[in-house]
Amino acid sequence: MAAPERKGGRGGLLRWLDERLPARRLWRKHFSDYRVPRNLNGWYLFGSLATLVLFNQLLSGLWLTMRYTPTAEDAFDSVAAIMRDVDYGWLIRHLHSTGASALFVVLYLHMFRGLLYGSYRAPRELVWVFGMMLYLLMIAEAFTGYLLPWGQMSYWGAEVVISLFSTIPWVGGELAQWIRGDHVVSGVTLHRFFALHVVGLPIVIAGLVVLHLVALREVGSGNPDGVERVADKQGKPLDGIPFHPYYTLKDLVGVAVFLGIFCTVVFYFPQGGGYLLEPANTQPADPLHTPTHIRPAWYVTPFYAILRGVTFELFGLDARFWGATIMALAIAVLFVVPWLDRSPVRSMRFKGWPSRVMLGVSTGSFVALGVLGSLPATDLRPAWAQLATLVYFASFALMPIYTRYERCLPLPGGAR
Ligand code: HEM
Repeated sequence: MAAPERKGGRGGLLRWLDERLPARRLWRKHFSDYRVPRNLNGWYLFGSLATLVLFNQLLSGLWLTMRYTPTAEDAFDSVAAIMRDVDYGWLIRHLHSTGASALFVVLYLHMFRGLLYGSYRAPRELVWVFGMMLYLLMIAEAFTGYLLPWGQMSYWGAEVVISLFSTIPWVGGELAQWIRGDHVVSGVTLHRFFALHVVGLPIVIAGLVVLHLVALREVGSGNPDGVERVADKQGKPLDGIPFHPYYTLKDLVGVAVFLGIFCTVVFYFPQGGGYLLEPANTQPADPLHTPTHIRPAWYVTPFYAILRGVTFELFGLDARFWGATIMALAIAVLFVVPWLDRSPVRSMRFKGWPSRVMLGVSTGSFVALGVLGSLPATDLRPAWAQLATLVYFASFALMPIYTRYERCLPLPGGAR
């Protein structure tokens, strides 16, 4: 016989709350009753870490905004005042700058996991596409934020990138001016970038993170074997272990390790942790003096190397136009990876040696481009960048062929 329900007390309060707010139902649905594959390894930590670092960015950014002044006259000094005069201002700024770098480290590892285990394959194509949209938005967020300290590199970095739009035939000049709000990067540009960085883009990013996770919930998590779990008639997985406490605890261990590394950088190597690395940014923006060596933050140097590597003119359009086009294609190709991969299996664990070699080749060429993009231009480096760009595109262009014809290992009995 069921025990009679006690009135009042803790149970009564929770029941009262349950009748008014679905908080406990949501917790059960999404955590304690939600079943995930039992074989998720350390690579599956980076999604949670990306969410954590995103919160760090939102919070530290909110505090920076309280003291920052988005005008050409005061921006540089207001940042200096945050570092020197505001209590723990240095800490908040270092949390934000190191957080920007950490977010990209975590995102690149999260994306690599996707390529390694075929997380982008059906039915998770949309999860991947939303993820790629997030990656693009994170680049836009980092780019708009980089202008705000109003240092020399902030200024000239923005000028170089915005002027790329002016290479688009017919509409380019007007488009670049529309983005700047002026003929050159100025206080007007600073103000609109501030609005985008602090309000516009974070709202869109938050919305897309929700879509990314809702799309994932709809189809369920993948796993390192790339084998779908036993499902009921509606296709909902039947086996697996509850997310809480198994993965909440497992993720907490990863979070502790991550925080150990993150805090070591913030407290002991703050200059190396992000955009503060750039010495040219200790000088206030000067529209009349171009720095000798302009380079973007490390997480976009692969694309910068592609841009600098293109030295030819074609159909009367200058090299910068083709450089920007190829740069855009380098990102676009990642969007369509779910449809380039024709393998009968998802995970690298069961794929043949051509897939393994090609994953190494595409990752290696991307890293090589990143290194080239961070070094000053020399006579020979554009040629190396061209070679690495060619190798990068070839590894994806050949994907439909080698994934289709390579010899894969058989999947465990009857799995799909
Ligand atoms: C701010 C950005 C992002 C956040 C907060 C985020 C968050 C998450 C979280 C929490 C998960 C579930 C845990 C896991 O599988 O790791 C996940 C899964 C996934 N994410 Fe992201 N993600 C972001 C960006 C990206 C990007 C850039 C991509 C790739 C282009 C991507 C692709 C995926 C895929 C394919 C899965 C499903 C993995 C599977 O279940 O096999 N995500 N993401």
